[in-house]
Amino acid sequence: MSRDSDTDDESGAARADDSDESDAEQAVEERVPVLLVRGDREYLIPPGGEQGTDLGVLEVPEDVQPGDTIETHLGDAFQVRRLRGPDLFHQFERTGAPMVPRDIGLVIGETGIARGDRVLDTGTGTGVLAASMARAGASVVTYERDPEFAEVARENMALGGVSDAVDVRTGDLTEELETLEASSFDVLTLDTGDAASIVGHAPELLVEGGFLAVYSPFIESTREVVETAHEADLSNVRTRETIQREMQFDDRGSRPSTAPVGHTGYLTIARNV
Ligand SMILES: C[S@@+](CC[C@H](N)C(=O)[O-])C[C@H]1O[C@@H](n2cnc3c(N)ncnc32)[C@H](O)[C@@H]1O
Repeated sequence: MSRDSDTDDESGAARADDSDESDAEQAVEERVPVLLVRGDREYLIPPGGEQGTDLGVLEVPEDVQPGDTIETHLGDAFQVRRLRGPDLFHQFERTGAPMVPRDIGLVIGETGIARGDRVLDTGTGTGVLAASMARAGASVVTYERDPEFAEVARENMALGGVSDAVDVRTGDLTEELETLEASSFDVLTLDTGDAASIVGHAPELLVEGGFLAVYSPFIESTREVVETAHEADLSNVRTRETIQREMQFDDRGSRPSTAPVGHTGYLTIARNV
């Protein structure tokens, strides 16, 4: 009997489960907003949504698919694209300074955030880091002490299609630490000026082998973070400036860009072992 014609109950049931799962995945996928692009105009709009633009109104059908073309009511065409991680940085409504895609890559790469991980994140700010970690498969609890920022972040999570995976809590994490269960997170990400006051709690919050990632634009707070991480007996404590040099390629030759190199921050990683 060929495998194609194998119709025993077990494999049939497995296929039914698979197809249920892919239907469910598709249903989730269908609720994710899509990007409508024309030149340098970009709009993130959910299926069934509508957006006024300077070229007319865009109406997005419920069954929109990446690759489609949609015209405004005045007849100007926009291409439909799938939302990608770096688009979050450009499309989310901004409150607290969002982390740039390169630094998000470093946080995810250095901590190995993957499907099934539980992450505690603070502060939410715009929510770009939280949404990116959710898109990598983690479930994220994120605290934002400014109620208006928290509300915007919830809207941003909906826009990014990750509301189910990101729990945006309004509150100051330093005041909520005792409400959190011990050893309930795989990764703790901190992007706040007061990160050093939270780092000492990392060993209680993290599972054995879990990671701490602290992002700071300033060297003074980074030093405080490093000292606290050592006092808390975290291991493999190391800090890097997250600098990158842009390259220029032109008719005269190739070299690093002569434009000023933009500093973004220092990333400190430590491990609960
Ligand atoms: C730089 S932003 C975070 C940006 C975020 N990582 C992103 O990618 O969009 C810092 C945010 O942390 C919030 N914040 C600072 N200290 C906090 C604390 N102890 N608990 C909760 N939120 C805090 C601030 O209100 C601010 O919105």
